[in-house]
Amino acid sequence: MDARDLVRSVKVVGTAQGLRSLRSAWRRRRSDAVGLPPRGPERARVPGEVLGADPQPGGGVVRFARSSLLVRVTAGGAVFCGWDGAEPEPSYALDGPCPDADERVRLEPDTDGGWRVVSERVTVTVSRTGAVEMRTPGGVVLRRDLPPRWWEPAGADPEGRGVDAGGPGAVGDEPLTDGERPGAGRAVARWEHRSQVAADARFFGLGGRASGPRLRDGSYRLWNTDPGGSFGPGDDPLYLTMPVQLVVADAGTHLVFHDNSWDGTVTLREGEEGEGSGHDRPGGCRIRMEGGPLRYWVIVGTPARALQGWAALTGAPAVPPSWALGHHHARWGFGGQEEVRRVVAGYRERELPLSALHLDIDHLAGHRVFTVDAGRYPDLPGLAAELREGGTRLVSIVDPAVKAEPGTAAYDSGSAEEVFVRDARGREVRGVVWPGEAVFPDFTDPRVRKWWGGLYAERLAQGFSGVWHDMNEPVSFAAFGDPTLPRSARHALEGRGGDHREAHNVYGLAMARAGYEGLLELRPEERPFLFSRSGWAGLQRYGGSWSGDVATGWPGLRASLSLVLGLGLSGVPYSGPDVGGFTGSPSPELYLRWFQLASYLPLFRTHSAIWAGRREPWEFGESVLTHAAAALHERQRLLPYFVTLAHEARRTGAPYARPVWWRWPKDRALRDCEDAFLLGDALLVAPVLEEGAERRAVRLPRGRWYDTATGRAYEGPGQVVLDAPLSRVPVLARAGAVVPVAGADGGVELEAWTPVRGRPGRGTLVVDPGDGWDRPEVVRFVSRLRDGEVAVEREGAAEPGYPVRVRGEAPKERPRRQ
Ligand code: GLC
Repeated sequence: MDARDLVRSVKVVGTAQGLRSLRSAWRRRRSDAVGLPPRGPERARVPGEVLGADPQPGGGVVRFARSSLLVRVTAGGAVFCGWDGAEPEPSYALDGPCPDADERVRLEPDTDGGWRVVSERVTVTVSRTGAVEMRTPGGVVLRRDLPPRWWEPAGADPEGRGVDAGGPGAVGDEPLTDGERPGAGRAVARWEHRSQVAADARFFGLGGRASGPRLRDGSYRLWNTDPGGSFGPGDDPLYLTMPVQLVVADAGTHLVFHDNSWDGTVTLREGEEGEGSGHDRPGGCRIRMEGGPLRYWVIVGTPARALQGWAALTGAPAVPPSWALGHHHARWGFGGQEEVRRVVAGYRERELPLSALHLDIDHLAGHRVFTVDAGRYPDLPGLAAELREGGTRLVSIVDPAVKAEPGTAAYDSGSAEEVFVRDARGREVRGVVWPGEAVFPDFTDPRVRKWWGGLYAERLAQGFSGVWHDMNEPVSFAAFGDPTLPRSARHALEGRGGDHREAHNVYGLAMARAGYEGLLELRPEERPFLFSRSGWAGLQRYGGSWSGDVATGWPGLRASLSLVLGLGLSGVPYSGPDVGGFTGSPSPELYLRWFQLASYLPLFRTHSAIWAGRREPWEFGESVLTHAAAALHERQRLLPYFVTLAHEARRTGAPYARPVWWRWPKDRALRDCEDAFLLGDALLVAPVLEEGAERRAVRLPRGRWYDTATGRAYEGPGQVVLDAPLSRVPVLARAGAVVPVAGADGGVELEAWTPVRGRPGRGTLVVDPGDGWDRPEVVRFVSRLRDGEVAVEREGAAEPGYPVRVRGEAPKERPRRQ
């Protein structure tokens, strides 16, 4: 134990908590000492020589001397590879049953003793020693996976039988039931998988990373972690990790997902090109996992197709209710209901739209989940109704830890129903979180999810419209070591049984499921609003996320954009940062730039820590207020576009905020551009991420782009330098785009950006179906330049049906490229 750790924990959680967290860390260490097997001698294994293959629909099983590989191309084109008997199911990531095999293809012998499957979108070849290559139909290699390597406890037989590979896809005939386990924490096989990709390939994804969105050379850990206090670009891992990567190269884009929730590390190394010498050094990826099955999915296609395939596999993103696309204001420590009224009134007096206000843990009685501090909030339902009348909803924080204190409803009912995580010896695991000593529901148990979901009735009765899940990595404060549950803690894992080594990374995901399903059952007529700090592959089925405790400072501003883009490419399209940063007091300029950036991101929320400065837009002087108001009004004007993007995310898996290379993945300069993003197909947002900057360089994709502030046209690809005064950040619109916006009377209008002659443009409007489940109407438009006039046509109708406003003059001279 390091004295610095104790000082740190005391600083973060106070003296009494600091001591509790010291005790808890000792307890965790002791539990693991008895509940986990010591790492004994290990034996390394590789697949060995190929023996033969058993073709099946979609591919088949290739048999090796010391392992086997199942290859299955599914009907949607995604390829599954499972070593050592691993199957696609069971899986926390998959949404429903595994997709069917593509009946048209089977394993066939390849040259030199290997096997191959040739499908429409990808050719998979398996070498005689177990290397797997994925090629485009044109024969270009997208990735080459080297034969894997396992380290298994000595004593296990060569096929790994007798070794618990840890749940999903466990080797052996039948998964063990809890009762059959000789205590918790069986020894498991670790493994390593190394792959090569093109020398020009770039890596993205891996969940929410502060240092992206382009993931540079280095190691990225797969273990959901609260960095404690706050984080900056150098901190890894953070709250929401997942083993999914998008690999973008000239030869093509592919997504690869290792379906395994255990602790692990991904080490990436970008390749180098030999400048025509023919001596390229390929890019490399090495994944090492501490246990669990070696199984992975590969989806080949354009970025849009890869994300569509990913959503097909792991579930369509939930569409937040439309109010959740407006502005939210939060703070840890409003103090009480009068302060809440004052803040909301402050927005109203200044005619600043405010969709939602979030109550943090300080509104709870002694930080106990599902309670209210009646002294500070004597009439919460009354307050909620009053605010709602004025157009502002209340959102509640919900932490998973339940104070271990008889007499509290959640603890009493939870204890009676035996829902809390237990240790290897069958005792409730105690940790420390905000309320003090606490216990943790086991969300990996369907019965527990049902119980937990029912508790949201209390939140609805208090008048809350949505929930904000926090501390669900899960966090248990620890004066030293890992601030989470003991790895030996037992979990139901949907009846398969296992421990925290496997359950940790899916804890937040399973909690999101519990919350979502609970809200749905309690209030079936409304789409639940939920966002969660932690999660895993598939979180989007239930809701979104946010950046967590990003440190106030210019590096934090940059990190927050990286997080949102990375999460979007990992399939979680709805997220946003704490505007102004979580800690400290941003300078007026930093606050404003953060506000401007977030006004173009899906979740637009100001928030800060209890010890940090204010975040209301009027706290930073008159000029900041004026410019923040402009950003807020512009967000309000763009709401029909945001609603459309939310529904498009559901239909196609495309994130609202996309990297600039989204439609141009072969443009290498765009692949390396990390300071701008596309909002849908129509807009390119270039936030200011540097102090003092009032102009900035903007890299343009191909085609004509209009600066929306000046209407001036620029021709891409290339770089232009644009004005970025404090009053706004550069936003460009793509020629031909038809953007649905709110008109002055609140109705929808179409903003049509003049198309290039001979190149029609497009746009979509998803008509806001309200906050229920009505099937939304999707309206498509085409824009054309005809005799110098812009015409907007609606597909399947004679008239557009909405007022059209043409923007962006067709340039008389050649547009500029600076
Ligand atoms: C965590 C959250 C933060 C919240 C705080 C108190 O640090 O990330 O948003 O304000 O807990 O609940």
